Amino acid sequence: MHAEDVPLPLIAQEVGTPVYVYSRATLERHAQVFRDGLNDVPDKLIAFAVKANPNLAVLKVLQSQGYGADVVSVGEMRRALAAGIAPEKVVFSGVGKTRAELIAGLEAGIGQFNIESEEEGLELAEVARELGLEAQCTLRINPDVDAGTHDKISTGKADNKFGVPISQAGQIFGKLASEGGVNLRGVAVHIGSQLGDLAPLENAFNKLGELVSALRGAGHTITHVDLGGGLGVPYKQGETPPSPAEYGAMVARVTADWGVKLIFEPGRVIAGNAGVLLTRVVRVKRGVKDPFVIVDAAMNDLARPALYGAYHDFTAVEPNGRDMTANIVGPICETGDTFAMGRLCDHLEAGDLAVFRTAGAYGATMASSYNSRGFVAEVLVDGDKYAVVADRIDAGAIMDAERVPEWLA
Ligand code: LLP
Repeated sequence: MHAEDVPLPLIAQEVGTPVYVYSRATLERHAQVFRDGLNDVPDKLIAFAVKANPNLAVLKVLQSQGYGADVVSVGEMRRALAAGIAPEKVVFSGVGKTRAELIAGLEAGIGQFNIESEEEGLELAEVARELGLEAQCTLRINPDVDAGTHDKISTGKADNKFGVPISQAGQIFGKLASEGGVNLRGVAVHIGSQLGDLAPLENAFNKLGELVSALRGAGHTITHVDLGGGLGVPYKQGETPPSPAEYGAMVARVTADWGVKLIFEPGRVIAGNAGVLLTRVVRVKRGVKDPFVIVDAAMNDLARPALYGAYHDFTAVEPNGRDMTANIVGPICETGDTFAMGRLCDHLEAGDLAVFRTAGAYGATMASSYNSRGFVAEVLVDGDKYAVVADRIDAGAIMDAERVPEWLA
């Protein structure tokens, strides 16, 4: 198995495992396909959701594709700017932006704040006035739509913490629009991630369209609407989530007469299938029923199976033509560190290499150092060359940041 033209065993040998491997060509192709899908949307900004993969080199690839960035923390904002993304192409989302983050965003001159509550809007207005600046803003709306995805990544139901209830949107918009320091110029929505069906998105966008008309009817000027991200990707062979072209056609149809600039915040659809997590089998242990294939990657490196019961395809780097049914587990000391039970997969033995696929989004970025395992390295491949784009941070380096106070010594 290769990533572009680089054999994965070479990367494993030179960089070690576990290691995330990303493909520049795939990132670029996904960026282009997503943009092409939106050909019928005349005025738009595509802002990559940095949370999906904040690696600087990945951001640089997308910056070169003309992408902006959707950020949710000052850390993500600094990464986007460091990758050369122009501040006006940065959108700051997030339900708990601190005062310091609001100030940092204002001082950096970012293009848009997506305000998530009346309280946040008032604070942003106050901070902006103090700085003598004006924040460009949309108000994030909670449309009360069930995205039909995993509960933990659903964001648009009434009891989710995100945005202002659509029933109160007119009133809150009116209040914030009259504040100095903020130019409230539109609305935003994001109902969830890994959506396998366009219907909930269309439903949410239609509700937003009605709100735009109502706001205009009330005398507000609406020039920007942020439609968020959420488009799903195939994790299993045979899965066929809506394509960017189908998504784009729906968006163009629903928004045809809105007369606004549209902002998109795709994450997973750009990065998900542009990366794998390369791992080595530590050993194969007999089980009562199926054997346990114990790999050197664990839930701290790829958290999605443990957190959401997510499926990641698992295949051998050098398949020997045989298969096996096995439990795929990591070395961490809890049962949650299980990637798959009873999975039919390639036959593997101790020392063999394998990959978890579709690991380019919400992979490395969600890593922790649980069990003092350190942080995994990341590699970007480009044709027949590759570079380590994030060093492995070993457990020792993390321990170096800790100290025992004198009064305990
Ligand atoms: N915009 C906002 C405001 C978001 O909250 C998100 C994702 C996105 C855009 C990008 O969504 P995407 O296009 O990637 O679906 N850790 C979870 C996913 C959490 C998504 C959080 N918000 C997972 O591994 O499935």
